Amino acid sequence: MAAPDKVDKVMEKLVSLAKRRGFVFQSSEIYGGLGPVWDYGPLGVELKKNIKERWWRSMVHEREDIEGLDAAILMDPKVWEASGHVAGFTDPLIDCKQCKHRFRADDPRIKGTPGAPDAQCPVCGNKGTLTVARQFNLMFKTFMGPVEEQAAVIYLRPETAQGIYVNYLNVLQASRQKIPFGVAQIGKAFRNEITPGNFTFRTREFEQMEMQFFVKPGADGEWFEFWKAERMKWVQALGVRPERLRFHQHGPGELAHYAKDAYDIEYEFPFGWNEFEGIHNRTDFDLSRHQAASGKKLEYLEQATNERFIPYVVETSAGADRTTLVVLADAYREEAIEGETRVVLRLLPSLAPLKAAVFPLVNKDGMPELARTIFDDLRKTYNVFYDDGGSIGRRYRRQDEAGTPFGITIDGQSVQDQTVTVRDRDTLLQERIAAAKLVGYLAEKLKG
Ligand code: GAP
Repeated sequence: MAAPDKVDKVMEKLVSLAKRRGFVFQSSEIYGGLGPVWDYGPLGVELKKNIKERWWRSMVHEREDIEGLDAAILMDPKVWEASGHVAGFTDPLIDCKQCKHRFRADDPRIKGTPGAPDAQCPVCGNKGTLTVARQFNLMFKTFMGPVEEQAAVIYLRPETAQGIYVNYLNVLQASRQKIPFGVAQIGKAFRNEITPGNFTFRTREFEQMEMQFFVKPGADGEWFEFWKAERMKWVQALGVRPERLRFHQHGPGELAHYAKDAYDIEYEFPFGWNEFEGIHNRTDFDLSRHQAASGKKLEYLEQATNERFIPYVVETSAGADRTTLVVLADAYREEAIEGETRVVLRLLPSLAPLKAAVFPLVNKDGMPELARTIFDDLRKTYNVFYDDGGSIGRRYRRQDEAGTPFGITIDGQSVQDQTVTVRDRDTLLQERIAAAKLVGYLAEKLKG
């Protein structure tokens, strides 16, 4: 990992580009900003949507054995008791009695033993003011209905997975699937993280892309290996540099309360190696607990063998926001061109928010009219951008920062022969092609 000041600089540049170009804004910024919450701007919403759609296509549309679901965020609180989240979804929390800051117990900045006189607060520097660690539940609570009392407490889901478990029989029966089969969903999750940070990496509101694969007990090891390999392949196909990706197996101290085995897919962010997706063997933990708590049989009858069992679950759990951050961080480059530094997002063209930008070279001599016609034609198929402001060089640079893979320029010759130049963001090569062939040209280039 790079030195801390260099890390801050890289992240600062990424956050600044994200704001400047409309990828990500601070939530409630005009009120000073709601720290660990972020909003996606015009380009960010497209990038994240492209990633989610790609995930959905590969998980649901391209597989016969996976069905989609969109369960509600609010669920019966009994779900979270049965799943173990009420009792066990906690992080150890330490308070400073002097400055009132709060820390996770594993915060590397804490020196000494919290609760003892030698412990030093990393923020105010006082000694002996840190409390011993206590368990802090990460679930957000609110009230259902008009009365704010204990009986009305309801939680914002901290993972989307439970919506799948409680619907597993509904989906199985409605879709006439047989085990092994999976259920996939994309949706918001909420965690009252003690120390959120690193831009959109750790936030209190985020989106997950989760898939629960139900298998016969005993087949879980093989399916676990299968999904581990599949997910790494999928991530690499996003164009992320493979040398910045690795697996990390959870040690006994790291395993979640439901997991028998777990691997993270990690990316080397500017702030170090960190997880953005997990593959978990959750055994029959969740379904057994829901069966016991609800009194509803969640067994599966395998017709070929006449055996009844509660399926084991292999889960793939990705963060849509963290995957978007991986894609952004990996695409960010500063390159020297003709004595100048250009900032460019080398996004996989199919993920790029804008597929092309259309530029009339000058605003006269029939060029804007032709450029508008081409733009109107292209946007029936693609998300494209029209820009006639400033020098052509500046217009190229703006689109480089947005990660737009193709710049289409309409010049004097275009008006004569209906051809245009197409500039490739990465190679900077320019090709002259017939305007009528642009849709097919882009379709070819945007494959993959
Ligand atoms: N259902 C299993 C589960 O939720 P997890 O490892 O706690 O497992 C899965 O979370 C993924 O969700 C993470 O790899 C990460 O991408 C995303 N995620 C979790 N907490 C997050 C947070 N506070 N901010 C942003 N993304 C988060």
